[in-house]
Amino acid sequence: MEELKRMVAKEALKYVDDDMIIGLGTGSTTAYFIQMLGKKLMTGELEDVYGIPTSHQSRLLALESGVPVVSLDEVDAIDIAIDGADEVDQHLNLIKGRGAALTMEKIIEYRAGTFIVLVDESKLVEYLGQKMPVPIEVIPAAWRAIKEELEVFNATAELRMGVKKDGPVITDNGNFILDAKFERIEDPLDMEIELNNIPGVVENGIFADIADIVLVGTKEGVKKLER
Ligand code: A5P
Repeated sequence: MEELKRMVAKEALKYVDDDMIIGLGTGSTTAYFIQMLGKKLMTGELEDVYGIPTSHQSRLLALESGVPVVSLDEVDAIDIAIDGADEVDQHLNLIKGRGAALTMEKIIEYRAGTFIVLVDESKLVEYLGQKMPVPIEVIPAAWRAIKEELEVFNATAELRMGVKKDGPVITDNGNFILDAKFERIEDPLDMEIELNNIPGVVENGIFADIADIVLVGTKEGVKKLER
C-alpha cells in the first residue's frame, strides 16, 4: 500500500514546473508528494515553487521538507493542487476528510487551475458512500441538531472522537466533525449542496465535479483517469 502511495506521489511530480503555486493536500499520500517536492527544490531540479497548505499538518511537513509556503490571500492564482481522497466514483466525484481537513482542502482545490487526486485502487467505488461516511465539519453548538436533521437523508451520523485526545476531534478551524453514513449517494452534487444548506454546517466532504485528474496506484502501475 505504501509503495502504491509513493508511486502516485512520484507521478504527480511530473505536473510540477518552476514558478508554480501548488495547493498541498493533507493525508498520508500527499505527505509523500510534499517530501518528494522538497527534495526537488533542495537539489535545484525545481525552482520558485510555493505551496499553499490545506492544514497545520501539511504546513509543518512542508516547512520541514524545504517547501516554502504562502497563504491563499497572498497569491493571485493556484496552478495545481495535489491531494488524496477516501472514495472516488466513476465520474471522479470524491469523498474526502478522513483527516478532518476538508474545509481548507475544498477552499484551495476548488480554486486550483488543475486539481490532481492521488489514490490507490482500493479507493475506487461504484457510488459515493459505498464504503466511507461523509465527514461534515459543523459549528460545535449545532452538532446534535445537525446529527438529527441528517436523518432526513437516511444518514446515520456519529460525532468523531479523538484517538490521542479525550473528547471530540477539533478541526483546524475550531469545529467538530460528524461522520455521516449514507445508504447510497445517488447525486453527489445535489447532496453536497443540500448538506451545506443546513445551518451550522461549515463544509462537507463531498467534492463533486472538482477533480480534473485522478492518478490511481495499481500493482500494474499508475492509471490516469481524466474528466
Ligand atoms: C484529509 O482531510 C483527507 O481528505 C485526505 O486527503 C484523505 O483522507 C486521503 O488520505 P490518505 O492519503 O491518507 O488516504
